[in-house]
Amino acid sequence: MCGIIGYIGKEKSLPILIQGLKALEYRGYDSAGVAVFASDTVKVRRSVGQVKELERTLNNDLDIASHLGIGHTRWATHGIPSEENAHPHSDCQNRIFVVHNGIIENYKELKEYLKHRGHHFTSDTDTEIVPHLIEDFLKSNHDFSTALLDALKMIRGAYAFAIIDAKNPNTLYAARFSSPLVIGVGEGENFLASDPSALVGRTKNVIYLKDKELAEITKDNINIINLEKQKTPLEIVQLGLSLEQAQKGNYPHFMLKEIFEGPEVVRSALRGRLKSKENLVKLGGLEQIADKLKGAKRLLILACGTSYYAGLVGEYLFEEIAKIPTEVHFASEFRYRDEPLDQDTVAIAISQSGETADTLAAIRKAKEYGLITLGIINTVGSTIARETNAGVYNHAGPEIGVASTKAFISQLTILVLMASYLSKSNEYSLSNALLQELEAIPEKIKAILDQSSQLEALAEKYKHYDNFLFLGRKYNYPVALEGALKLKEISYIHAEGYGAGEMKHGPIAMISEKFPTMMIIPQNSVSEKMFANLEEIKARKGPVFAIATEGDQNIATLANDVFFVPKTIEPLEPFLTIVPLQLFAYYVGTKRGFDVDKPRNLAKSVTVE
Ligand code: F6R
Repeated sequence: MCGIIGYIGKEKSLPILIQGLKALEYRGYDSAGVAVFASDTVKVRRSVGQVKELERTLNNDLDIASHLGIGHTRWATHGIPSEENAHPHSDCQNRIFVVHNGIIENYKELKEYLKHRGHHFTSDTDTEIVPHLIEDFLKSNHDFSTALLDALKMIRGAYAFAIIDAKNPNTLYAARFSSPLVIGVGEGENFLASDPSALVGRTKNVIYLKDKELAEITKDNINIINLEKQKTPLEIVQLGLSLEQAQKGNYPHFMLKEIFEGPEVVRSALRGRLKSKENLVKLGGLEQIADKLKGAKRLLILACGTSYYAGLVGEYLFEEIAKIPTEVHFASEFRYRDEPLDQDTVAIAISQSGETADTLAAIRKAKEYGLITLGIINTVGSTIARETNAGVYNHAGPEIGVASTKAFISQLTILVLMASYLSKSNEYSLSNALLQELEAIPEKIKAILDQSSQLEALAEKYKHYDNFLFLGRKYNYPVALEGALKLKEISYIHAEGYGAGEMKHGPIAMISEKFPTMMIIPQNSVSEKMFANLEEIKARKGPVFAIATEGDQNIATLANDVFFVPKTIEPLEPFLTIVPLQLFAYYVGTKRGFDVDKPRNLAKSVTVE
């Protein structure tokens, strides 16, 4: 999704902006632009395509003396990717320059209003109304910040803005509502970014701007006020990101690096939280509301995409281990449905970024109804992490690959811990075995990763197919959904995930020798049922690629290809069955010639509805 970078200080701003935009590339975008204050005027450059295209148009300008600038990568929402629609946008007099993440919902009525007042527009974007609105308020009010605040009060929707006023070249303005923005605090210089990863290597001190706050940033000072013009204290925190984490290292793609981080991700999520010998789970983040939580009669999991699929695994875990009725909702549906909610229900948001607009809105709705809200969030300090009553951080490190992989594994880990924590009875025998086995999971994931070349070879064999069916059952039903999502998002192959029992109710119609099925068929309580499905597919000549348990003698005679995973207990199977599917998707995507770190049309963090 769109990215923002801003700079004010002693250095030349353009190289800093370009480097920041490159760090934001992973979020997904289709055009880019910059505005810098130089020689008493603001210069703007915008271009369609990659940041390197923008860099090319800048040529020798990169070296110009400019100590204030803003930059943007745009992921088109209103209007096609074009130079006119790329940010920054400005007002009629080319005085005010704005870059924006988010969506202004009432932009049409504001645009009409401004047109009637004589403003002229040059793009199809919602963003362009902002400089004109400020310009309009400046006619009756000479103070820029006041005009900006007045404009913010008229806007409905989500926004993170970085703004330059050509008449105030010593100030960089920033404002946010429901879309992240972080100020990087330097010495004799300050930075602005929509994503802290763009600040890595520049500064470790950051301030997360809160909703409805406006920042006036000079090279030596930061002043933050709310919409009522009251000053708010500066909360400087340390950025927990290292350069190593923000780089690919020896891996060709972030996605592969992050799949290989699977064992470490489980260990970090368990660290200090699991005492398996004493059958004890300690979740510091939940302690303050532990009593209320243990009285919960129902759980609601709210999430999107991969995090939603982790939530589906959570549903099985909470019901089997904690014996608490659990429902999982797409956050985008939950926010608009009218279901009865009572206060014995606890809502759990799962989100890697902690900024997904639908998940945030869903959790805000749950709070309005008086529910306790928890977060399973990877990004420390993110909006959802801040707005939930309590929660458990993933500590998985930044996930940069657009296709989520290590976050899923980490979310599974936290869900197992939470289910054990909420378990009504500590004598519940599974919980003990479960916690002991959980500690063995990292080594078992590693054993799978060590055989990645097998999956690479299988990807070569299967890469030409245009369609795939993914089948799993019980704990592996969400894995089938997630495996299909991974394949489609990075290789653009049509893939459908189904609960295997549903196959007979429709999807079986698609089976033919041209339509392979990925069967997740470990030895467990439902494997007999899965084998029956496998026979039905073979009877219709469908190729079968099975993910099965090591030592399974039967499977090799029935499936065309098999990848074996180590044995584990049923509730933990998703940890092991998802990894080969992630690797398979990765290899198919790369073998089909795609840059899997930049899948088309996708954004890393979906901060608009
Ligand atoms: C898929 C993927 C998305 C995200 C979804 C939720 O690979 O990355 O489906 O899982 O957009 O994002 P978070 O977890 O940040 O709320």
